Amino acid sequence: MTLARPIKIAPSILSADFADFGREIQAIEAQGADWVHVDVMDGHFVPNLTFGPPAVKAFRKHVKTVMDVHLMIAPVDPYIDAFAEAGADIITAHVEAGPHIHRTLQAIRATGKKAGIALNPGTPAEAVAHLLDLTDLICVMTVNPGFGGQKFIDMTAKIRTLRGLIGDRPIHIEIDGGVTPETAPLVVAAGADVLVAGSAVFKGGSVENPAPYGENMRAIRLAAEAASGARIA
Ligand code: DX5
Ligand code: ZN
Repeated sequence: MTLARPIKIAPSILSADFADFGREIQAIEAQGADWVHVDVMDGHFVPNLTFGPPAVKAFRKHVKTVMDVHLMIAPVDPYIDAFAEAGADIITAHVEAGPHIHRTLQAIRATGKKAGIALNPGTPAEAVAHLLDLTDLICVMTVNPGFGGQKFIDMTAKIRTLRGLIGDRPIHIEIDGGVTPETAPLVVAAGADVLVAGSAVFKGGSVENPAPYGENMRAIRLAAEAASGARIA
């Protein structure tokens, strides 16, 4: 069966061992990660603090796939060049982070990087309707951003609306928050193709014992691909 679009698994290193990022990144890539998702939090847009550009630059040395940088910061624009220089491949900003998301997307594209827009659960799909030609990825948050390990919020109606708005454009729909083998089929059947997962990938494993990372990713991928096939059947 031909799949409508290949599913990508993007582990969030928010759930990795913070004292060992280099080996954690190598372990998840060796175990089958398609992308590496990096959650940047500023303690202002979201109630948590994580990484700045120097940390992201250090991660880059270990990432062989795609470094997907999710900025949960406000303002965004003053930091775009720094995250681009740090080696992000995709830079995603929240539509809620400021009044000029169109300018933000132009600024990301001007660095030569792919541009993503993230939508909090309370933000409607239509918020991106006039931004699609500046966008490579739409990140649909299925938790309120700030922490790993939260409960999945059903956004399948929003995902379906986005697929309709996107039409034939080559735009990824990424899902972030509470993705597990149980929730992945719901979002993929609605039209998602990139699955971020933190706790569901890292649980049970470590750099010394990375096999569970692979098993966890395979379980998510298998469930997702079954739903993807169902969508076009
Ligand atoms: C939430 C972050 C997510 C988070 C996902 O603010 O953007 O990427 O790490 O973690 P899980 O998969 O544990 O919900
Ligand atoms: Zn994220």
